[in-house]
Amino acid sequence: MRLLKKALAVGLASAMVFSMAGCGAGSKGTTAAPEATTAAETKKEDTSAETTAEAVKDAVGGDVADKKVGISIYKFDDNFMTLYRTELQRYLTEDLGFKKENVVIQDGKGDQAEQTNQIQNFITQKYDVLILNLVQASSAPDREPDTQEEQRWKDDKINATYVGCDARQSGTYQGEEIFETSNKGDINGDGVVSYIMIQGDPENVDAQYRTEFSVKALTDSGMQVKELLKQRGDWDQAKAQQIAQDALTQYGDQIEVIFCNNDAMALGALQAIEAAGRTVNKDIYLVGVDALTEAVQNVIDGKQTGTVFNDHFSQARTAGDMAVKFIKGESVDNVNMVDYIKVTKDNAQEILDKLK
Ligand code: GAL
Repeated sequence: MRLLKKALAVGLASAMVFSMAGCGAGSKGTTAAPEATTAAETKKEDTSAETTAEAVKDAVGGDVADKKVGISIYKFDDNFMTLYRTELQRYLTEDLGFKKENVVIQDGKGDQAEQTNQIQNFITQKYDVLILNLVQASSAPDREPDTQEEQRWKDDKINATYVGCDARQSGTYQGEEIFETSNKGDINGDGVVSYIMIQGDPENVDAQYRTEFSVKALTDSGMQVKELLKQRGDWDQAKAQQIAQDALTQYGDQIEVIFCNNDAMALGALQAIEAAGRTVNKDIYLVGVDALTEAVQNVIDGKQTGTVFNDHFSQARTAGDMAVKFIKGESVDNVNMVDYIKVTKDNAQEILDKLK
């Protein structure tokens, strides 16, 4: 299916939203009903949610309640994406007024073929808007649509937009967090910051940029660096624990910094650090990304040097807002970027309060 190919031709760090209106979406195919997730447990919002839903209703000249939103997440078993999808579901149903049964969220289970089937089913069943967080983000050369791709969307009247964060920013913040420590990351004073890098899925642009820009922030500040090890931990706590454990055995005190592309892996690395009898912020530094509650608490407790808030609230809400814009027939920019926030001991409590 052409449309499907095009949808998949856009690499994503976070999510792409696209509208099915006017896309010839009714082509033949299997009609197996997608398995719906149960509605997320959510806190009841105040009346502002009703006000928003009313405003949306007015604006679309009717109700969005009958519009169907198909969502596919690359994998449910991922801490950050769980925060994202929970907020997305809450926002669509509670604040924007979509019916719970019309918001269907599928688990891509880390399998692109499986996810492609799910998307195909959404199209067959004439969903109005799709929000896609692709399994194989590398299926395109760039995570953002390039000019040519944007032109194709325009020519073929495909209403598509990208919502995400610029991963370079998160990497830069990680490097700055190390540079802002009392010894600029050079704990042993030999003039070189020796580190290990625990990567997410290396074909994912978030992993690539965080790996590159964290170190670049240090070298741009004039630091000498030495990479002792770089290994993929696939965003996974247990894998990262094993990598850190092996690295601590092999390199011991030489390791001054452990860079992790996300917080789940930083939590794993911390387990290995503690088991090896090392102390964060004293004889080793540790940074992650996402601002998982546990990691932010660790920053407050001095067990993680810093993290970076990957704002799942704003990303989910922006994706939801774009879905409504498409339904309203409004024009939508092709790219919507949300800022990261650096999290250190100075603002960790403030960020933690936001997360609750
Ligand atoms: C990143 C996030 C990771 C993981 C990944 C999945 O933005 O920091 O924790 O969820 O997306 O692609």
